[in-house]
Amino acid sequence: MCGIVGYTGYRDVVSVLLKGLTNLEYRGYDSAGIALRDDNRIKVYKSLGKLINLKNEIEEKKHELKHPTSGIGHIRWATHGAPSLVNAHPHTCTCGNLVVVHNGIIENYKELREELIKKGCKFRSETDTETIAHLMADEYSKTKDLEKAVRNSVKRLQGAYAVCVMHKDVPDVIVGARKHAPMLVGAGEGENFIASDTPAIIEYTKKAIYLDDNEIAVITKDNIKITDTDGNILHKKTEILPWEPVALSKLGFKHFMLKEIHEQPDVIRNVLNGKIYDIDGPVILNEVKLDKEILKKLNKIEIIACGTSLHAAMVGKYIIEDFAGISVEVEASSEYIYRKTTTDSSTLVIGVSQSGETADTITAIKQAKEKNAHVLIITNRPDSNMARLADSLIPVNAGIEVSVAATKSYTAQLISFYLLAMHLAEIKETLDKTYLKNLKHELIQLPTKIEEILSNTSGIQECARKFSSYKNFIYIARGINLASAYEGALKLKEISYINATGYPAGELKHGPIAMLDETMPVLSILIPGGISYDKILSNSEEAKARNAKLIALTSSCDKNIDMLFDYVLRIPDISEILSPALTCVPLQLLAYYIAEFLGKDVDQPRNLAKSVTVE
Ligand code: F6R
Repeated sequence: MCGIVGYTGYRDVVSVLLKGLTNLEYRGYDSAGIALRDDNRIKVYKSLGKLINLKNEIEEKKHELKHPTSGIGHIRWATHGAPSLVNAHPHTCTCGNLVVVHNGIIENYKELREELIKKGCKFRSETDTETIAHLMADEYSKTKDLEKAVRNSVKRLQGAYAVCVMHKDVPDVIVGARKHAPMLVGAGEGENFIASDTPAIIEYTKKAIYLDDNEIAVITKDNIKITDTDGNILHKKTEILPWEPVALSKLGFKHFMLKEIHEQPDVIRNVLNGKIYDIDGPVILNEVKLDKEILKKLNKIEIIACGTSLHAAMVGKYIIEDFAGISVEVEASSEYIYRKTTTDSSTLVIGVSQSGETADTITAIKQAKEKNAHVLIITNRPDSNMARLADSLIPVNAGIEVSVAATKSYTAQLISFYLLAMHLAEIKETLDKTYLKNLKHELIQLPTKIEEILSNTSGIQECARKFSSYKNFIYIARGINLASAYEGALKLKEISYINATGYPAGELKHGPIAMLDETMPVLSILIPGGISYDKILSNSEEAKARNAKLIALTSSCDKNIDMLFDYVLRIPDISEILSPALTCVPLQLLAYYIAEFLGKDVDQPRNLAKSVTVE
């Protein structure tokens, strides 16, 4: 949520900042701004809406710039204060000499604001961030030392922050500080960077130093200094970033979402790589650091996650219970953190998150750790905050996901759960060897089956065109594909803004059926041979009897349903237990093409941000 980039060095500062913000745009896009130290002044440029508006604004005012050598930039996802020009970052102190950009929420900003107003500070915006600018300027006026001013100020801030600061009188120095919000320093030759996430700097350097909570970075073009909030120097490890800049290109696809959907076969191959060498041998999951004897006795797992990751967790529950006979609870992180849970040292707590930065899940994980649970994190970002909290870490290796709507990270999470569930089953010896062998065989074939779906999407496109004018949808399924129904409906909501809701098919007659008529399409997910196939068929009949238009998502061998359904989407034949890894693909594509026909902003849907770093 929100994105920060800072740069000092020999390159064109404006281009570096705008490139960095472009690569972070998936994190928020209500407004954007940059501040430059140029001609012994701080110059601020801001625009409302997407980054393109800022680019145009700067292009128009280019003649005002002499030779900026450092700057900070921000894209905003509004929390305090509506998306408006005045609330856009960067924010300055009263005289405009000190400038800040900030991600996070300052919880005690009202008290600080009142105190600073009494001291004569003039506030212009409704943001919590502006308080930081005034507070730091007040501290700077006492010490004339920017680093010290930042140190003294952050000690007074409650809440979460990743903040970058510059001062007119301290040329080409950028100070960054963090607490509960990600921040890293990018190391270069004759240049250095600071950012909230790696895509901002990946085009320029692969060397990064991750800040931890309560750490402060001071960068100049030739130096990086990291300290704690008392000023003690810290010697931090420089890490090599795993991403390639090409990950940030659409590679000829119209949208990142479509590119990422098409990457799924390779993503699955990547996840399986090194885990299943031989279908007769065990799953190799050295990432799980719990002793085998403890795993054998394990009888309770809790999985916590949000959004799409929560849907992957639901599939996880189903298969861990099915394969390994271990009882699993799944809960939205935002619910877990506000109740008395029974988590204890004998519980395995699994946190699932694409970004590894979701605030609710981080808080939930911290609570689980306080209760001495073993914490296993499944994430696409092994460099994230959540990964750092893990006792065991399964990186899902989906590669960077730029589109706000999660697709390939979901599939990668599903495959990680299949591996984990099989691993547990092997340790606990709960599954028949032949069954396990067949499962592995089928798992390995998933990428080819997804390629088959992706090789001809004309049917899905036609279905999308036919149904794009409907205002409401219901998705129904039972058992393991209930999560697929929730996820399919979520994808449609997110990118087309159509009201779509997933229901257990059996629940339809307990209420939702009242909504059914010819204006409400019902999409049923049903896998031939599956335990609830016939029941879902009956539930679809009930919907038909109420004049609902019916769409089926089924597999190729299902020959008897064309009479009942108005439209049939097919996936290659697959066992029901593995089918969520295939059913998600046409559902992603259906949502994509409907949004595309409606002319929606597929990669950056309104009101959403890629990583939700506020609770
Ligand atoms: C859905 C989506 C969100 C995220 C949710 C959790 O397409 O992107 O629902 O799944 O915000 O994010 P992570 O997985 O990063 O914790």
